Amino acid sequence: MENILITGASRGIGRAIALALCSNKNFLILTGRDQRALAETGRMVKENGGSAKTIVKDLSAPAQIDELISEIGSVKINHLINNAGMAVVKPFEDLSLDDWHKTFAVNVTAPFLLTQKLIGNMSAGSSIVNILSVASKTGFANWSSYCMSKFALDGFAKSIRGELGERGIRVINIYPGAIDTDIWNDVEGEWPRDKMMSADEVAKSVKFAMDAPANVVLEDITISNV
Ligand SMILES: NC(=O)c1ccc[n+]([C@@H]2O[C@H](COP(=O)([O-])OP(=O)(O)OC[C@H]3O[C@@H](n4cnc5c(N)ncnc54)[C@H](OP(=O)(O)O)[C@@H]3O)[C@@H](O)[C@H]2O)c1
Repeated sequence: MENILITGASRGIGRAIALALCSNKNFLILTGRDQRALAETGRMVKENGGSAKTIVKDLSAPAQIDELISEIGSVKINHLINNAGMAVVKPFEDLSLDDWHKTFAVNVTAPFLLTQKLIGNMSAGSSIVNILSVASKTGFANWSSYCMSKFALDGFAKSIRGELGERGIRVINIYPGAIDTDIWNDVEGEWPRDKMMSADEVAKSVKFAMDAPANVVLEDITISNV
C-alpha cells in the first residue's frame, strides 16, 4: 500500500487527482479547508474503490501545517502532491501586502514546508509532484503575485530535484495551461471557460508520471490547449 498526500483535494484539480489515483494499492490522505467538499472527495474516492482519510487544515498557517504533519503521525508518506493554490488577480499597484503574503504562504511556503517536513521519511521510489502552471514560465498582465509565486515554487522544485535524485526520489513538475475550475470564479474579465481543459487532463498526466518505473522521472510536463 502506498500512502499519498494530496493538498487542495476538496475540489478542482486536487479532487480529479484523488479520483485518478483511486486504487486498492493506494491510501490517500486528502487535505483542504472546506470540510464538506473534502468529505465529498473522500466519499467519491471510496465509491470508486479507493481508500482515503481527510484532514481539514488551512495551509496558509504554518502552525496548521505542523498539525497536519502530526495528524499524519507515523504513516510513511510515499508520494506528496503539492496541489493547493490560490490566485489574486489584479494590477500590481493594487496588490496589498496581505494579498502577497497569502499567495506566497499557500503557493510557496506550504509546499516548501511540507516537502521539508516529510522528506526525511521518504525513500527511493517516492515522488514529490508539484502542480505548477504555465504561469511558472511566463508573466501575465495582472497575474504578478500568482506568477511570482509559481516561478518561486518552480525554482525550489528544480533545485531540490538534484538533491533528491541521488536518493531515488523523483520530483515531477506539472505545468497546466488554463483548466476550468473554481479558481477562475473570482477572476475579473471574460474567460472562455468552455474552451479550457478539464481537471481530469491534469490528473491523467499526474497518474501517468507516477506510474513510470521508479528509476524513471518525467520531470517537467506542460499541458496546453491546441
Ligand atoms: N485552474 C487552472 O487554470 C490552473 C492552471 C494551472 C495551474 N493551476 C494550479 O492547480 C492547483 C489547483 O487549482 P484548481 O484550479 O484546482 O483551483 P481550485 O478549484 O480553486 O482549488 C484550489 C484548491 O486549493 C485549496 N486551497 C486553497 N487555499 C488553501 C489554503 N489556504 N489552505 C488549504 N488549501 C487551500 C482549496 O481547498 P479549500 O477551498 O477547501 O481550502 C482547493 O482544494 C493550484 O496550485 C493552481 O495554481 C490551476
